[in-house]
Amino acid sequence: MLPALLSGTWTLQSLQEMQQANHQLRVMETAQQVIGFAEFLLVADECQIFNIAISAASQRQGCGKQLLRAVLSEAAHKGMKEAVLEVRESNLAARSLYEQAGFVRTGRRPRYYTPLPGSTDMEAALLYSCSLSG
Ligand SMILES: CC(C)(COP(=O)(O)OP(=O)(O)OC[C@H]1O[C@@H](n2cnc3c(N)ncnc32)[C@H](O)[C@@H]1OP(=O)(O)O)[C@@H](O)C(=O)NCCC(=O)NCCS
Repeated sequence: MLPALLSGTWTLQSLQEMQQANHQLRVMETAQQVIGFAEFLLVADECQIFNIAISAASQRQGCGKQLLRAVLSEAAHKGMKEAVLEVRESNLAARSLYEQAGFVRTGRRPRYYTPLPGSTDMEAALLYSCSLSG
């Protein structure tokens, strides 16, 4: 069953498109429903993480950390040397999740994301990287 998590930005259609783009999708689920997912791509020796999301009701319980750890572990197991991602500068929860997992900031792209609701300003992306070897 698709939870509220997928009722906004992430729809069933967008999840199907991810799979068609050869993006990897890993889901976290309880007996009743999906509570989170991670979308990533393994290219050459790099794991590009596009998204990790946990449903609002299940946040702050360690699920994001667990899902991210599983993705990084799978990527390392498959020979990837580095994981990279971009995140909105204002997304402090995600930034904290990534930094806690060992990601370090490698760059900033100004005016990269469309404005958040209620704003007219394009938003910067922060680039992060995490070594998977050793
Ligand atoms: C980012 C997200 C995936 C974190 O998932 P989560 O299951 O709540 O995270 P966890 O409970 O595993 O927390 C792991 C760490 O993330 C950080 N974190 C998570 N939520 C946070 C919040 N609201 N504020 C600040 N830090 C937060 C903390 O460092 C936390 O460690 P701590 O509990 O020891 O303090 C979740 O907030 C989410 O789905 N957000 C919406 C989607 C999104 O923005 N995804 C990122 C796209 S790049």
